[in-house]
Amino acid sequence: MNKGIANFDYYNPTHIVFGKDRISELATLIPTDKKVLVLYGGGSVERFGTLAKVREALSGHTFGEFGGIEANPTYATLLRAIELVKKDGYNYLLAVGGGSVIDGTKFVAAGALFDSEPINIFGSGVGEGIPIKEALPFGTVLTLPATGSEMNSGGVVSIVEKKAKLGFGSAVTFPQFSILDPQLTYTLPKRQLANGVIDSFVHIMEQYMTYPVGGMVQDRFAEGLLETLIEIGPDVVDESKQDYNLRANFMWAATYALNGTLNKGVPGDWSSHGLGHEITALYHIDHARTLAIVLPSLLEIRKEQKGAKLLQYAERVWHITDGTEDEKIQAAIDKTREFFESLGAPTHFSDYDLGEEVVDALVSQLEKHGLTAVSERGDQTLDVSREIYKNAL
Ligand code: NZQ
Ligand code: ZN
Repeated sequence: MNKGIANFDYYNPTHIVFGKDRISELATLIPTDKKVLVLYGGGSVERFGTLAKVREALSGHTFGEFGGIEANPTYATLLRAIELVKKDGYNYLLAVGGGSVIDGTKFVAAGALFDSEPINIFGSGVGEGIPIKEALPFGTVLTLPATGSEMNSGGVVSIVEKKAKLGFGSAVTFPQFSILDPQLTYTLPKRQLANGVIDSFVHIMEQYMTYPVGGMVQDRFAEGLLETLIEIGPDVVDESKQDYNLRANFMWAATYALNGTLNKGVPGDWSSHGLGHEITALYHIDHARTLAIVLPSLLEIRKEQKGAKLLQYAERVWHITDGTEDEKIQAAIDKTREFFESLGAPTHFSDYDLGEEVVDALVSQLEKHGLTAVSERGDQTLDVSREIYKNAL
């Protein structure tokens, strides 16, 4: 256990291009001598005109397109993109979409220059876990604030035949730039808006809800972002409120939630994501919705280990002043659950017609992927994770 703020490096090379109508700047953001592959998802960017703007901005470039990257991008699809990049000699990638397209593009960027089979980018019993040393340069046009992928170097890929959803990352898989135009969020349906608020909220919590080490800057950053999401969340998920400032605050909060600022020198606990990814892999529930199931339950089961930080969270984020320490902590956990539910995300397996049968199946997935000693102290064993899943039934 760290007693104070640990040594850290802070490196983030991504150029953020934030604001209204900035897609046209792609013309100069990407060098004109590059052969660009534009990658996108299931068609929303075509439907809502974003791709048309990208094509216009790239009219002075040589470029091609690769569509069809799924939500929770699959290894099989990304492998096809890697083959295309190699065959046609693309040397710059542009992701246009949400976290899935951006993560997928990162994987293609690394996979195209990888010495071994790209599956070996993953460890966890699926591949050999060989480090990524180089990647093609890439930029992004973000259409869904949620993952922070636009300003970090990580990604998550689904390996369907292995029933696995695994992460990867490296110092060379940061986007060179990301265009963040809050207006692009106006076409998002309520479900995706809620997903974005919840995913961001949980990212912050996983870098904050551990034990205190006196990281005042990190704590206050985290608390400020959590309060912002609590304040704007109900309006963000109201599709009729297409207010620029509202969506700009949402977009920047989501980016900041996972751009590598909050975790510096402080402990982290990514077990909600670990437990959540297994739920998506087996039952295909949206990423953020798996977190809405896991986090409130995890806080209840881990109340003792996280007590000091939970109390701080209760007092500073939810402004709970009445009651004993235990009562304040329980009230904060209840408020967290109510917040997710109020955005339209259920917090129990039963809401998805899933019952007790999930517990063994999910725990054996955790075991297979080596998630046997997680959390900030490494003391969340499979038995504890089992309790967390059970408590969320
Ligand atoms: O595929 P299209 O047709 O584009 O539609 C997408 C998709 O169906 C749609 N969408 C995106 N922008 C839209 C829009 N619809 C209307 N208007 C727009 N402006 O939204 C759907 C979901 O998109 P997706 O990219 O899957 O969502 P999200 O951004 O939540 O990304 C989820 C993925 O990111 C991973 C998750 O595990 C999951 O695979 N994560 C990545 C992280 C990272 N790189 O740091 C961290 C996260 O914790 C997360 O694990
Ligand atoms: Zn997430």
